[in-house]
Amino acid sequence: MDSIAIERLIKISIDKQLMPETYVPWDNKLAPQEHHLPDHLVSIQGLEEFSELTKEQIDEIRRHEVVQFMYSYAWGEGLLNVFLTRQIYNMPPESPEFRFIIREVIEESRHQEMFLRAIRELKGEPLPPTRIHSFWGRFASKWFPGPWFFLVAISSELVADEYGRHVQNDDKMYSVLSKIAELHQIEEGRHITFAKQYLEKHFTNAGFIRRSVYSTIFALNIYFIRTMYVRQYSSAPESRIPKSFLKKRANTTVTSSRTIA
Ligand SMILES: [Fe+2]
Ligand SMILES: [Fe+2]
Repeated sequence: MDSIAIERLIKISIDKQLMPETYVPWDNKLAPQEHHLPDHLVSIQGLEEFSELTKEQIDEIRRHEVVQFMYSYAWGEGLLNVFLTRQIYNMPPESPEFRFIIREVIEESRHQEMFLRAIRELKGEPLPPTRIHSFWGRFASKWFPGPWFFLVAISSELVADEYGRHVQNDDKMYSVLSKIAELHQIEEGRHITFAKQYLEKHFTNAGFIRRSVYSTIFALNIYFIRTMYVRQYSSAPESRIPKSFLKKRANTTVTSSRTIA
């Protein structure tokens, strides 16, 4: 890996630390014109039933979905930290890779704290991962070889990067969530750069079979994210979404490519 580039990432991470406690304006209340999620990221937008809902009900869906996204992402960051800690056992502690991974673990820990605080502020009631998500998440973080898990990490980070971009570009976005997205996107940019460098050496000489395995892992992780970040509303506790609507949607996973587009 390019040690000069990694040293630069370490330096930025140390010199320009963004602390969620001060970077996010936690005291700001939701202004009347603000909402929790841009229109085009609401998963049910475009469905026929959408027009049956009132503004309050749609706002409730926005709140549920942003809470679920932050909760699922924080859970995934915890798994990433397990994996990263496993990785550095085999690295010399003075190497740039070792020292960058320590920085990444610190930043991911702060992100988890930030997301969980935001969920509490929004009085969110996130749904825990399903048994299948839980099994595969834990299995991957414990047993996947380095390149496999870095692929999982980079595909998740790219989704969050895109999601964060849409959130920041929406001028009606709740200022607290907008700032959270901004902080996260800045720091994830470094993680993506590092993961790309790490993967480069594994991809450069990879043959057809290895490339096919990598592509499959990437695609499966996108499916994993898609089914975990947007969940059936019928399972949402104390939802104020009308029962008739839930009944209609009960057997359908309410999700859309718009959510991660
Ligand atoms: Fe993160
Ligand atoms: Fe990250």
